[in-house]
Amino acid sequence: MSAQKQIRRITAPQIAKRKGVEPIVSLTSYHAHTAAIVDKYADFILVGDSLGMVMHGMESTVGVSLDLMIMHGKAVVRGTQRALVVVDMPFGTYEESPAEAFRNAARVMKETQCGAVKLEGGRRMAETIRFLTERGIPVMAHIGLTPQSVNVMGGFKTQGREEETWSIHEEDAKVVAEAGAFALVLEGMVEPLAAKITKQIPIPTIGIGASAECDGQILVLEDMLGLNPTPPKFVKVYGNLGGQIEAAVKSYADEVKDRSFPTEEQVYR
Ligand code: KIV
Repeated sequence: MSAQKQIRRITAPQIAKRKGVEPIVSLTSYHAHTAAIVDKYADFILVGDSLGMVMHGMESTVGVSLDLMIMHGKAVVRGTQRALVVVDMPFGTYEESPAEAFRNAARVMKETQCGAVKLEGGRRMAETIRFLTERGIPVMAHIGLTPQSVNVMGGFKTQGREEETWSIHEEDAKVVAEAGAFALVLEGMVEPLAAKITKQIPIPTIGIGASAECDGQILVLEDMLGLNPTPPKFVKVYGNLGGQIEAAVKSYADEVKDRSFPTEEQVYR
């Protein structure tokens, strides 16, 4: 029995069992304070490699490193106690072979103490998904618009606009589920295709820009909070954090400039 205080987090198998029972709530988070808030409402928190763009101003997720994911993963695990924390495997750390994927995913799990990893790709990643899950690493798969392949896809394009392409995505979904993925992110996919896949596979689908027909939803936290001045078109913006931060920074700057910045006594009165 561990001497550590027992923390009961939601597990990957519990997420898998939610299919057809209750919609799954999830958001991204990359840092301890926001994660602590999200933790109260989300079933799982994704430390997405979107952090490369959101936190570090990169052009795409391609430049994100394993060390960066581990650093943010640790922060999110420290800030939370309830939600399952899933950490993205960044580009170039899992595609070469199942053994390479295991080595890097095990490092992510050990160093961050997260409960699962996510990787992008359908059929091409099935062998790796099986290899990881059989060796104790729960895997969330991700198909449709896969941002790490932006340079091959030629941009961030909604998938499935032509019905002739649907069978490719349906096959990807079926194969990753058979390989042992506990959930599947469907990103940037037309609604009828997302609905069809959701009906066809036994694991929950988590939509992002893939309609309300999925078993759960995920959004990038900063997009839905109104911190991103140009969020993707499908995002409903629930807050105005950008505006609030600007107003607060402006008030502070004005007070410093006109010498009305409060003394400690005034602040703590
Ligand atoms: O990196 C990320 O934030 C993601 C979500 C968009 C699903 O993969």
